[in-house]
Amino acid sequence: MDPIPVGLDPDSGQISAQLLPQMVSRHGLICGATGTGKTVTLRYLVEQLNQRGIATLVTDLKGDLTGLAAAGGGNAKVSERLSLFGLDNTYYHACPASLWGPGALPMRTTPTELGPELLGQMLNLNDNQQGLMQLLFRIADQLGLLLLDWKDLLALINFAERYRKELLPEFGTISPASLGAIKRKYLALETRGAEDLFGEPALELTDLIGDNRIHLLDASSMQPVIYGILLLWLLAELYENLPESGDNALRLVLFFDEAHLLFDDLPAPLREQVEQIIKLIRSRGVGVFFITQNPMDIPEGILAQLGNRVQHALRAYTPNEQRAVKAAAKSFRVNPDIDTETAIGQLAVGEALVSCLDKDGVPVPVERVFIHPPASRLSPLDDAERQQLMQGNPLAGKYTQTMDRESAFEQLRERRARMEEQAQVKAERPKPARKPASALEKSLGRAASSFGRQIGKELVRGLLGALSGGRR
Ligand SMILES: Nc1ncnc2c1ncn2[C@@H]1O[C@H](COP(=O)(O)OP(=O)(O)OP(=O)(O)O)[C@@H](O)[C@H]1O
Ligand SMILES: [Mg+2]
Repeated sequence: MDPIPVGLDPDSGQISAQLLPQMVSRHGLICGATGTGKTVTLRYLVEQLNQRGIATLVTDLKGDLTGLAAAGGGNAKVSERLSLFGLDNTYYHACPASLWGPGALPMRTTPTELGPELLGQMLNLNDNQQGLMQLLFRIADQLGLLLLDWKDLLALINFAERYRKELLPEFGTISPASLGAIKRKYLALETRGAEDLFGEPALELTDLIGDNRIHLLDASSMQPVIYGILLLWLLAELYENLPESGDNALRLVLFFDEAHLLFDDLPAPLREQVEQIIKLIRSRGVGVFFITQNPMDIPEGILAQLGNRVQHALRAYTPNEQRAVKAAAKSFRVNPDIDTETAIGQLAVGEALVSCLDKDGVPVPVERVFIHPPASRLSPLDDAERQQLMQGNPLAGKYTQTMDRESAFEQLRERRARMEEQAQVKAERPKPARKPASALEKSLGRAASSFGRQIGKELVRGLLGALSGGRR
């Protein structure tokens, strides 16, 4: 596969930095102050990967990437850059893209898929509450309750609240205070539209990799915590479900814009898990590029794994900014011709220090280049263009209809109705002499056995489960 020419040395007029597709799974970093060209660099790399038949998933936090699906033109800075590279208007072209997010294809998962760890993280639970969340999943597992959408988990919480005493012998104490806190936090997220995260049809990873499209996830209206959780889940799922990629052949590249949102407030154990996943996911043929203003936004253990680097200009007014510049400068392999620390402060818009890995995985000495212009349009799609793009999408039929299978919410509602009916019958007739049922059986009716454990797969899932190996 052809190397991707990243930039051009303005002095020699030669292409002088290249990204090798076989090294993309060694991950990357694009950083720089606001307005310095990070998103344009990302856009160009995504276009180039797409041309080489590599699937990409790009998070779009400002809604400024949908123009990838339209041919470029009409931007003075870009056309100036085109001439610098000796290109003309015939270079502009649109890319095939799928839009995910509100008003497009819903990207959903289920509480079961997400698992108690990430749910706890999403709800910012303390240790006691987290322990209880694990227990709720165990209860659902034992009773064969499917947790597929938002109301299923709420029904489970309500169920545990109501039958605390009956659940005690089998599952131990359920603290009403902790349960109340979980419920409050859950409901608080719901009012901010988080329920869109859950439901069926859930995302199938094969749909991201199967076709030669750029998958754009519109995360502009997503709460940061939901954004973070969804992406962590995605990483865990990819790691867990993709087979080893023998020769490390590249399958998918993820571009996480505003990457600091992934790591803000991430507790240490989860951060370590993410570090692990980033390290291991390479073997699945998945590359991850982080885009952020300040490299110090990214945990050190992850930063150290990002082999391909594009550094746009940084400001250095405050001591914190100066530290960031020093750190960024030091992260490059030295090129005696370039004083990296000074250069970082001088770079123009769309200019960058670049160092990618060579074919042996060794970073090449840093180069100062003008980044290649993108072929797609910088301005976003208008409503009509969006509509048109959605209509032509082969995945629309599959994902835009919401499915509401019978799951915990319906199961528990049905169970209650049956229990009330039984209580009614019992009240109306004299007590027969029969073996006393256990408290749990009594309160749950026959439901536990009839729903049984028909679900073949383990329900207590999640990031930590994924990493501890053999879940299936
Ligand atoms: N490689 C380039 N070629 C031509 N013009 C560019 C290039 N990179 C950036 N520009 C110009 O600079 C503008 C800002 O770039 P961009 O949106 O990528 O900044 P950013 O670093 O992502 O900013 P923010 O942090 O605010 O998201 C673009 O709209 C474009 O006009
Ligand atoms: Mg940007």
